[in-house]
Amino acid sequence: MAERLKALVIDFGGQYAHLIARRCRELGVYSEIVDPEETFKKLDEGGIGAVILSGGPRSVLDPDSPKIDLMKLISYNIPILGICYGHQLIAKTLGGEIKTGRIREYGRTLVKILEKDVLFDGLPDQLMVWMSHGDTVVKPPRGFKATSISEDGAITSMTDGAKIYSTQFHPEVTHTQYGEKILENFLRIICGIEAWWNPGDRIKELIDEIRSKVGVDEKVICAVSGGVDSVTTATIVSKAVGDRLYCIFVDHGLMRKDEVEQVENSLRRIGIRNLKIVDAHERFLSKLKGVKDPEEKRRIIGEEFIKIFEEEARKISGIRWLAQGTIYPDRVESGRTGRKVALIKSHHNVGALPKRMNLKLIEPLRDFYKDEVREIARKLGIPDEIVSRHPFPGPGLAVRIIGEVTEEKLKICREANAIVEEEFKKAGLYDKVWQAFAVVCDDRWVGVMGDERVLGYIVIIRVVESVDGMTADWHKIDHNLLERISNRITRRIPKVTMVAYAATSKPPSTIEPC
Ligand code: XMP
Repeated sequence: MAERLKALVIDFGGQYAHLIARRCRELGVYSEIVDPEETFKKLDEGGIGAVILSGGPRSVLDPDSPKIDLMKLISYNIPILGICYGHQLIAKTLGGEIKTGRIREYGRTLVKILEKDVLFDGLPDQLMVWMSHGDTVVKPPRGFKATSISEDGAITSMTDGAKIYSTQFHPEVTHTQYGEKILENFLRIICGIEAWWNPGDRIKELIDEIRSKVGVDEKVICAVSGGVDSVTTATIVSKAVGDRLYCIFVDHGLMRKDEVEQVENSLRRIGIRNLKIVDAHERFLSKLKGVKDPEEKRRIIGEEFIKIFEEEARKISGIRWLAQGTIYPDRVESGRTGRKVALIKSHHNVGALPKRMNLKLIEPLRDFYKDEVREIARKLGIPDEIVSRHPFPGPGLAVRIIGEVTEEKLKICREANAIVEEEFKKAGLYDKVWQAFAVVCDDRWVGVMGDERVLGYIVIIRVVESVDGMTADWHKIDHNLLERISNRITRRIPKVTMVAYAATSKPPSTIEPC
């Protein structure tokens, strides 16, 4: 039985490459994403026991679509699972027949299993699966047999009966019934890899690695926010270098209610002594005065943040390292192949700093997904209010305030966000949604308070369900819960005369309004 072998996900530009990799890890098999052209280098390094070809937006019939030397890949004798584009690539390269545009299937589709091969072990005869394709395999290559078929007659899976398997549908997507079981069958039965990967077991190794890198008289600096990534990073580094870690929390005044105190208490409890909280809220607010444009607000906050962080870092002598909470999806963008990504929103970080200040980088979480970071954080004893808190943008409440950021709007935004969070927690729904928050608009709504006419603010509640923030569904909120939130906001927060609910998914919208 193969021991501690990894899965390699070859990214053909599909939006689900990270999802495939995450599913493998959830099944206890460490996985990495590579571009087609990096594949053979990675395989030659060894330790790979499963290869998965991802989906992709292009047609395999398009001469410029991403390719791989499939015969060379097969020669490594490692089991291969092709998904969507991967399924079609195998069919086309090995002599099967593909038709374009004849059958298009998007979303939930029923497929009939023709042959119970090992990939479908323990599954019923029919499955509802998630599909997204315009090209269709209509004849498998010689030596392959079709193992399932859709109602429209598309060959939805096939195998050579030995090492090569493929599915037109996406087993990694939760809408596919038994999708996890299919991936499990591939990894366990076909590849013979038992579950071995557990991120919590890596903590000692992560600490030892930092100890071996950082010299005994060298200091490390770390920018912490309230987020689980930066707090976990700081905790690991502190366990490695003790008081030679200096944490800086730039409080831009745009944090959630009580967040600064909460993070300070948690970090101190964890044992981080060199923690400096820089109260810069006036500096940020004055820079944001009169600024309405969302990108301009983000640019100003990002620039000011780096400036302050650098000023503080220069006050500490002997700093050689910058610890950053970079995680795997920050580092390995998926869906790169054949597609240019437009700038939708700029995110701020301290990325330019190492070069300017001649610092070396420590990124202990660089190989982990968010769920894995949370697991590590829990094992390190980081309090649950930080571990399970919803994602929060770096520029803070400024992106939840449409138009100019003023003290008045900021106060409303902070209170309304706290009410939404509290009500979702009380309803037992907080951990079930990706984000639940409140937005303050620039426009006004006429209200009556007592007998008075009031020109008040509009607050929009936004709740979304998502797996990674890349796409999101709007949450179909319970009306009683919405009513409770709306009542509390209008009663408790002066000058709010309307509460609305955002009913648009991403795309076409984004999650945050600015
Ligand atoms: P959008 O609004 O782009 O957000 O659909 C996707 C996810 O990213 C979060 N977000 C940010 N996170 N810095 C961050 O670290 C940022 O500037 C930023 N802007 C948005 C957002 O909350 C959502 O989870």
